[in-house]
Amino acid sequence: MLIDLPVKENIDLGNLPSHIAVIMDGNGRWAKQQGAMRIFGHHHGVKSVRDTVEGCVELGVKYLTLYTFSTENWNRPKLEVDGIMQLLVKTIAEEVPELHKNNVRVKTIGNLESLPASARKKMVDAIELTQNNTGLTLILALSYSGKWEIVQATKQIAEKVKKGELAVEQITEDTFSQFLATEDAPDVDLMIRTGGDHRISNYLLWQLAYAELYFMDDLFWPEFRKKDLFEAISAYQHRERRFGKTSEQLK
Ligand code: IPE
Ligand code: IPE
Ligand code: MG
Repeated sequence: MLIDLPVKENIDLGNLPSHIAVIMDGNGRWAKQQGAMRIFGHHHGVKSVRDTVEGCVELGVKYLTLYTFSTENWNRPKLEVDGIMQLLVKTIAEEVPELHKNNVRVKTIGNLESLPASARKKMVDAIELTQNNTGLTLILALSYSGKWEIVQATKQIAEKVKKGELAVEQITEDTFSQFLATEDAPDVDLMIRTGGDHRISNYLLWQLAYAELYFMDDLFWPEFRKKDLFEAISAYQHRERRFGKTSEQLK
């Protein structure tokens, strides 16, 4: 246990992760602990989202991607899925004015077509309103899965090659990245998962290639606060990112 919880002052602003991705997990278990329905946990997770976004804005992090709803989550009971979709509509409506004020640019990745029309409309409006903002880019992964994204990119590339607009030799890691839903966002530097499970759950498979993974074993998402974000960033800053090289080469 850390006695002194890392606060903002402990963070080196010159070595911030450019892109933080979060798997916001543990809402259901947190609610169960409170003797409440799972949806109660999702509602309480909104405060954690707000805190995380605020923390990123305060520090000057450029990209934050939140795993909001996975392709696989459609297989949950209808009651829960409907509740999450309603919460999504309500939350976007309530949060977007503040996000806009904070110069946040909202984006989404995932199969928007599969969302209920009301949620899709709210998302499209939010994206349009904030498209010229220059601060944090907040990417909501909605009806998203990493495998889905890679297949989408591959199909688009295949179409271009078929039409003669792209030569096979032009397919590099860089060009491939541009066909991914995250487009111009850099690869993830730091991936945080709450809730105690140590897995990726089909999240950002390509973009996580060299990310530092930070698992919070004793914290469910509704309990996550700005100080936890700062703690994760501070831990990230103490890691040595070798990218295949030796430690000596980095000196
Ligand atoms: C994460 O919390 C939120 C979503 C997947 C939408 P969970 O709902 O997965 O909560 P647990 O993992 O069951 O506790
Ligand atoms: C991952 O959490 C998806 C989101 C946080 C939106 P899950 O709770 O769905 O992940 P698994 O299925 O337990 O791996
Ligand atoms: Mg879960």
